[in-house]
Amino acid sequence: MNTAAGLLSLENKLALVTGGASGIGEGIVRAFADAGAQVIIADVNAVAAGELAGALRDEGKRAESVVVDLANESSVVAACAQVLGEHGTPWALVNNAGLQDRQAFLECSADDWDRMHNVNARGAFLMTREIARAMVAAGEGGRVVNIISAALRGSIVKGLAAYAGSKGALQGLSQASAFELAEHGITVNTVLPGGVATPGAINATGPAPEGPATRPVPLGLCEPRDIAAAVLFFASPAASRITNQAVAVDGGFSIS
Ligand SMILES: NC(=O)c1ccc[n+]([C@@H]2O[C@H](COP(=O)([O-])OP(=O)(O)OC[C@H]3O[C@@H](n4cnc5c(N)ncnc54)[C@H](O)[C@@H]3O)[C@@H](O)[C@H]2O)c1
Repeated sequence: MNTAAGLLSLENKLALVTGGASGIGEGIVRAFADAGAQVIIADVNAVAAGELAGALRDEGKRAESVVVDLANESSVVAACAQVLGEHGTPWALVNNAGLQDRQAFLECSADDWDRMHNVNARGAFLMTREIARAMVAAGEGGRVVNIISAALRGSIVKGLAAYAGSKGALQGLSQASAFELAEHGITVNTVLPGGVATPGAINATGPAPEGPATRPVPLGLCEPRDIAAAVLFFASPAASRITNQAVAVDGGFSIS
């Protein structure tokens, strides 16, 4: 455990990754599986989640999938109950799934705002509540990692009012839950990705993405594995005394 590899090992740990079927989530799922975890891919896209889990099993990794619609409380409660019943209590929960569509601020509707918040913030709250209850009951601690966005540190383009609002809510949830869960040995940390060319980012609808986030970043565009490395650190034994912290993995945007 005290070797460098041991400090980043998730051997014999169960990890649940929302939105694990695509993009950054897939990168996290692959990193966790490589670190020895049994990974549950929780996604609304049942086909993609099942295919990724199958591909990982073909590589000798341990992976399963569960269908969840984070915008629907009943679906979240049922999916978490399924995971707990079939696989036991996760050691790590990664709230990664998120919508990224943009709306010009003056045209942004209440429905746009609610749709974004229902998945990006409310869904993460419901997932954390359900899984943290089980972690507390199991009494072995645990890890929650929330995927926010470097948009909260100025890496922004036009059209992100609802998106940034939802990520701000997730940031607040992270701090409040870190405080209340610390006495149970559960840490809550956040990773703030910069731009990553994922299906979700490429296919996001809305006005042209004009703004500071489009300027070149010193270290180049991030890949899903770059984000995954920071998430793995927070989920690993190396980070057992770290909570309520945020790491931006943004290619150096903040110094450009
Ligand atoms: N790609 C970027 O540039 C970037 C930058 C900063 C932050 N992020 C954040 O990273 C996270 C992952 O983004 P990505 O770019 O990999 O996106 P992506 O769209 O490629 O993947 C998101 C996954 O979430 C799933 N999902 C969507 N709605 C869901 C729902 N209601 N219930 C369950 N699953 C649902 C999708 O099916 C998909 O598999 C998001 O939270 C996003 O806001 C991305």
